[in-house]
Amino acid sequence: MMADKKRILVTRDFPPAGIDRLKENSAFELTQWEMDRPMTREELLERAKDHDVVLCTLTERIDREFLEACSHLEMISQFAVGYDNIDVAAAAELGIPVGFTPDAMSDATADIAFGLMIASARKMFYLHNTIAKGEWGYFRPRGHLGVELSGKTLGIFGMGRIGMKTAQRCRGAYNMEILYCSRNRKPEAEKELDAALVDFDTLLGKSDIVSAHCALTAGTRHIFNRDAFERMKPEAIFINTARGPIHHEPDLIRALEGGEIRGAGLDVTDPEPMRQDNPLLFMENVCVLPHVGSGTNEARNEMSAMAADNIVEFYRNGRIPHIVNPEVLSG
Ligand code: GLV
Repeated sequence: MMADKKRILVTRDFPPAGIDRLKENSAFELTQWEMDRPMTREELLERAKDHDVVLCTLTERIDREFLEACSHLEMISQFAVGYDNIDVAAAAELGIPVGFTPDAMSDATADIAFGLMIASARKMFYLHNTIAKGEWGYFRPRGHLGVELSGKTLGIFGMGRIGMKTAQRCRGAYNMEILYCSRNRKPEAEKELDAALVDFDTLLGKSDIVSAHCALTAGTRHIFNRDAFERMKPEAIFINTARGPIHHEPDLIRALEGGEIRGAGLDVTDPEPMRQDNPLLFMENVCVLPHVGSGTNEARNEMSAMAADNIVEFYRNGRIPHIVNPEVLSG
C-alpha cells in the first residue's frame, strides 16, 4: 500500500544500474533531486525531513547537526567508498545505519593513480597545454625531459583495496619495488608483490613515488605536510587519489616550488573544486584531475547497484551487505 512505501531521497543523478531497481521495486517511492548541482544544506534538510532513507554521496555534508535534525532517518546509503562527509559516530549514536560501496571503484581509481604517475613523470598535461598555447616549437634534445618509472620504488600509504591494485599495476608494468605503510599488515601484498611494511619515515625517505590511498581521518588529515615533503627524495613524485585534505596544499605548493620534491599527480584537491589560478595547474611536473577516480561506466554503475542493494537488503532482511557502522544493526 502507498502509505507503507519507504521514501528514498536520491540526492544526485546516479547511474541507472541501482536506481532503476529501486524505482521498479513497489516497496519504495523515490524522490530524485532534479538539478545538476548538489543540494544546498537547507534544501537537503528540507527534503530529508519527509523521507526514510537518504541515498547520497560526498557532496552532501551529513554531520551531527543534520543527523540530529533528521534522526527519523532509517538508513543512509552512501554512493562512495569514502564517507568522511558523514559523521558516522553520530549516526551510530542515533541508531542510523550507513551503507557504502567499497571495491566498486578500486580498478578505476588505481588506473587514475597509475596514469597520474606516468603523466607527471613525463609532464604530460603541461606539454599538452603548451601545444594549445602555440608553443610546440622545434625538437630540443634536452628539452622537456622526464623520468622513467621502471625499477623505481613505490611507497603506498594505505594498503587497502585501491592501494593493492595500484601496487599490482606498478609491479606488473615496471617491476617496481613496493614499500607500504598501513594500519595493518597485508600478507597478500607481501606474498604477491614482495611488498615490505615500513614506518612512515622510511616510506618517505626511500620511495621514488609516494601514493596516498588511505581514508581521511583525524590521523591522516594533512599528514603530507611540510615536514613530510622535506623528508621525501628531491626526485620523488607525490600522488593523491584519496582525499584532498590528506595533503596540506600550501605546503605541497611550497615543496614543489622549492624543489623538495619533483612532481605531483592529484585527483583530489583541497578545496574542491580547485581554483583555476592555483599554481599547481601551471607547474611542469604536476598533473591535476577533478576527482574522477571512480569515473568509469563500470565503476559508477557498480556503485549504484551496491548503494541500491544496501537499501533493498536492509528492508528485506535487516542486514546491509556493505555497512560502515555494523554495531547499529547488531546492537
Ligand atoms: C570517491 O571519492 C569515493 O570515495 O568513492
